[in-house]
Formats: sequence, C-alpha cells, structure tokens
Amino acid sequence: TLVLHVLGARPNFVKAAPVVSGLAELGVRQGIIHTGQHYDALMSDVFFVDLNLPEPLANLAVGSGSHAQQTAALLTGLEEVVLREQPGLVIVYGDVNSTLAAILVCAKLGVPTAHVEAGLRSFDRGMPEEVNRIVVDALADILFCTSPDALSHLAHEGVPAGKAHLVGNPMIDSLFSALPKLDPAPVQERLGLSGRYAVGTLHRPANVDDPASAKELVDAVLGVAEQLPVVVPLHPRGRQRLAEAGLVDGPNLKIVEPLGYVEFLSLVRGAALVLTDSGGVQEETTMLGVPCLTIRPNTERPITVTHGTNRLVTPAQLPAAAAVALAEGAATPSEELPPLWDGKSGLRIARVVAAWLRGENLSPAA
Ligand code: UD1
Ligand code: UDP
Repeated sequence: TLVLHVLGARPNFVKAAPVVSGLAELGVRQGIIHTGQHYDALMSDVFFVDLNLPEPLANLAVGSGSHAQQTAALLTGLEEVVLREQPGLVIVYGDVNSTLAAILVCAKLGVPTAHVEAGLRSFDRGMPEEVNRIVVDALADILFCTSPDALSHLAHEGVPAGKAHLVGNPMIDSLFSALPKLDPAPVQERLGLSGRYAVGTLHRPANVDDPASAKELVDAVLGVAEQLPVVVPLHPRGRQRLAEAGLVDGPNLKIVEPLGYVEFLSLVRGAALVLTDSGGVQEETTMLGVPCLTIRPNTERPITVTHGTNRLVTPAQLPAAAAVALAEGAATPSEELPPLWDGKSGLRIARVVAAWLRGENLSPAA
C-alpha cells in the first residue's frame, strides 16, 4: 500500500518530515505530493534540503490566487494524482488550503485520510485556517493531536474517541533534530547583529492585508525597534503592504527575505525576543525558551501560553509588553514542555499508521 503525504506550504514541510522518517523506519511505502501552493525557493526548496525530505513524486504547481481559485486548482490537480497513484492512505498536515483540498478530494473518492495537527481551534472563523481546520477534522479518518485541548475540542465536535490520538508535536520533533545545527553566530554576522535583538515574523491576513491594520502593526514594531534591533524575515504576503505602511530598513530595523529553516531557528535561538503572528513560531519559541509576543487576538495554540513562553498582545500593547519581556530577561524555559513534545511524535504517528494499514487500531499511548 502506498501512503501519500500532501504538502503545499512552508509549515507543512516542517510537520511532515518526522512522519516521513518514522514511516521510513517502519518500512512503509510512501511518497510526497507537493501542491506548489508555496513555490519560492525560500518558501519551499530550502525546507526539503534542511529537513532532508525526499523529492516529491509530483509538483502540481497550483501557485497563488484567491481562496476559490487556489482551492479549485488544488482540487483538480489532487483528484488527478489520487486517481493515478491509488494511495491506501493520504496524510495531510496543519490548516492550509492544500490540506483542505486534499481532504475534500479523498473524501469524495473514498480514500482514507489522516490529519496531523487535528483539533486546534482559535474559535475565530474570520481566520481562513479555522474554516479549513473544521472541515478537515470533520472528514479525516484518523486524527493526530498535538495537545490535550485539541483532543477535547474533537470530542466536543462528536469525533469518536478511537479516531483521535494524542501524539505530541511533530513540528517539535523537527526542532529537536535541528538543535545540533542551530548556531546563531553565522546568521547574526551575515545580518550585522551584535548584542541583543528581536526577530519578527508577520503574515496573518488579518494583520497584513488591510492597510489600516498594517499601519497599526508597523507602528507597534517601530515601537519595539526603539528598544533594540529588530530583524524581520518577511513572508512574501505582507511585503508590499507592510512596506507601504512604513516597515522599511532603518537603523534598528532590518527587513530581509524569508530565511531557511535552520537559519531562521538559529536566529530565533539567539534572540532576546520574538514578535510573531505565526502558528508554528509560537510552539518553537516555547520549546527554545525564547519569550514570544504573539500579535493576535486569539490563538489555536493556548498550550504555548499555559506551558510556554507565549503571550498574546494587541499592536497597541506590543511596545510595552516588549519592554517588560526584555526586563525579565530570558524566559525561564518552562519546567515541563507540553505533554509528548519530546521529539518522538513522528514515530508515534508512524506506528499508528502502520498498525492501521495492517487493519489494527493501535492506541498511540502504546
Ligand atoms: C498560507 C496559509 C497560512 C500559513 C502560511 C504559511 C492558507 C489559507 N494559508 O498563507 O495558514 O500560515 O501559508 O506560510 O493556506 N507568495 C509568494 N511566494 C510563494 C508563496 C506565496 O510570493 O512561494 C505570495 C503570493 O503573493 C500569494 C501570497 O504570498 O498570493 C499568499 O500565499 P498563499 O499560499 O495564498 O497564503 P499564505 O499567506 O502563504
Ligand atoms: N520559518 C522559517 N523561516 C522564516 C519564517 C518561518 O523557516 O523566515 C519556519 C518556522 O520556523 C516554522 C514555520 O516556518 O517552522 C512556520 O511557518 P509560518 O509561520 O509561515 O506558518 P504558520 O505556522 O503560521 O502556519
């Protein structure tokens, strides 16, 4: 039986790598389908190299567009691939449009699916990702959760207990594997940083798409840049709007291209503070013990607040919250990371999948 991983966007690659290597360890036949949702070398290729991911079987090159255009291209492209490859199981990751389309295609073709990172909820349907999460979890046959809250959201939504498995966080597996390679010095030198600095990432539509929100956000980041140098490896989505709102190079502000996985995490590891609206970065800073200010009204990852270094802030609160975080110094790495964030999630998922392929329902606690 062939297991297919459908991947399209930057965070997908990071979540899939440990699952791919876990399945390889168990001798499962597998392949990657790259949808081409992300296509710039720094949004895609660099992750295959840094994470040691095998070459995809196919790249559908769906590219960018409105939600409808992109999803339509994904549906058409994925239907063809699934019909051709006849997988026994399709594994999807996270909450991006590629995830949504793959689940819909498989549900209609009667192909079983597994969702990695199931059950996360921001309870904010204004986020495109929240819509994707709800649909994906309603249709997936096997659900893998990174946190206990996710498991209980699924139970509330009526998912039978046997379908959902708490396995920990494969994105944290990737971080564990990368740890020995994370050296802040070379990237700090390349970016001309010495002493304390903050790293920012911004790409949520609610923050960067609307000119008024973008302006508020940029003013907040400038308020932090008055306190220490801020480096922003900028996602292509926000590039133009944020520049128009004033996010441009200055004495204490450096706007750079997105960084590769190892380089980005090296920079974060050496940072005094992270400002972000990313999902994954909230989790990575928790594991690295770097203070994180998340510029969003809500998070689908509350465990990073209760067990980690994350705090939610409004743009207006950001400069003062940064001052407090900097005065407190390095966050005490939480006594305990969230349960099962131990670097073994990929193998846990692989074991459940391999058992499922044999017709057994394995409890992941085993
Ligand atoms: C997508 C996900 C989001 C995730 C993010 C991770 C959806 C609905 N959103 O958002 O959940 O947090 O990926 O990074 O799936 N672009 C490029 N080069 C690329 C890719 C995109 O220039 O390689 C630009 C294009 O102008 C494009 C825009 O970025 O229109 C948005 O890309 P898209 O894939 O639609 O959504 P993201 O904002 O990347
Ligand atoms: N990341 C990266 N380079 C960057 C910014 C982020 O490698 O310049 C990594 C980050 O470490 C994490 C993933 O990309 O593993 C998160 O992706 P993103 O923030 O784009 O998406 P989200 O998690 O918000 O869906």
